[in-house]
Amino acid sequence: MRLSNLINSLPPYHFANAKQKIADRKAAGVDVISLSMGDPDLPAPPAVVERLCAAMQDGENHRYPEYRGMRALHEAIAEWFENRFGVQLTPEQDILPLLGSKEGLAYAATAVLNAGDIALTPNPYYPVYISGATTLGAEPYLLPLREEQNFLPDLDSIPESVLARARVLWLNYPNNPTAACADRAFFEHVVEFARRHDIVIIHDMAYAEVYFDDFRPMSILQVPGARDVAVELHSLSKTYNMAGFRIGMLVGNPELVDAVGRLKSNIDSGIFRPVQYAAIEALRLPSSWLAERNVIYQRRRDLLVEGCNALGMRAEKTRAGLYVWAHVPQGYTSRDFTSWLFDQTGVFITPGTNFGSAGEGYVRISMTEREERIQEALRRMQEVLRKA
Ligand SMILES: Cc1ncc(COP(=O)(O)O)c(C=O)c1O
Repeated sequence: MRLSNLINSLPPYHFANAKQKIADRKAAGVDVISLSMGDPDLPAPPAVVERLCAAMQDGENHRYPEYRGMRALHEAIAEWFENRFGVQLTPEQDILPLLGSKEGLAYAATAVLNAGDIALTPNPYYPVYISGATTLGAEPYLLPLREEQNFLPDLDSIPESVLARARVLWLNYPNNPTAACADRAFFEHVVEFARRHDIVIIHDMAYAEVYFDDFRPMSILQVPGARDVAVELHSLSKTYNMAGFRIGMLVGNPELVDAVGRLKSNIDSGIFRPVQYAAIEALRLPSSWLAERNVIYQRRRDLLVEGCNALGMRAEKTRAGLYVWAHVPQGYTSRDFTSWLFDQTGVFITPGTNFGSAGEGYVRISMTEREERIQEALRRMQEVLRKA
């Protein structure tokens, strides 16, 4: 069959390949420890599962759902956003529920970019930022995130000729893969920059609610005037261990929220109502649920950060997110090290270069395994690295 140029230019999605590799190795009898995907191993809250099951019993909920989500869900999101960030959203105008935030990233880009435009894209990046632009014939302009700049892009280094064609700036804090976080001064600068150059900010905040110690990541919408230039994506996947439910939301600039709603309703048909009811339940959980869950991740983070540093794989103590971004041991590229490690130990981690060229020299290690398994992974790594 003759497929489109677009499909022929689209690489396979890394994590789809990774899942297959893990399945093959497991089938061959290897005890694989996967610290690669950000797929929460802990279950969704029991009250959420109960609400989902109860809503399933009602035949009315088996019908086509509302294209733009139920009013009650919009209201629950607005209430959650105000409690969490102190920002008031207008439920119908500023909020669009999504089938996970990933689709929203691609749709938001589609709503803004034309062929030939430039999308300012951090490097390393979540791969959808690249495919979201290139599938439209737009061009990513990569902004390196450097450790010495706290993994924040240097917007002042972008040439005027690039700025003239730039329509979108992707941002993602807490960041995947570096785990960096942005502060208010950075977001204020970004909003002013976007205004000055008439650029739309798409802030991906999928990791908003995985945080440690006393740190709380902020929303870009907390910056006065941000709603004029920015939208933000949130997700229940990592927040409430609901990755398989597929539910997230786009919030912020009402014009862009409406545009994405128009696009989406022409392509898909909304979120299964029981999942929407489950999401309402989740968004209204007491904050103690999150606090208890985050303590579990925090212990895993401590194990991983200390373990990596003891192995000579320098890693900073992270403040948020599901990953540790560690240096590869001397003498390896990111890819060689991760393949070698998988062959030698069955421990599967992600090469930094899967997220772009600026990931060279790093690996991303996910916290989505039990403490005993993380300890076992570190033990295996120590054993082979000592001999190497
Ligand atoms: C940075 C980032 N954004 C968005 C997503 C998509 O999350 P979901 O579609 O499950 O909401 C992920 C998932 O790993 C991610 O890492």
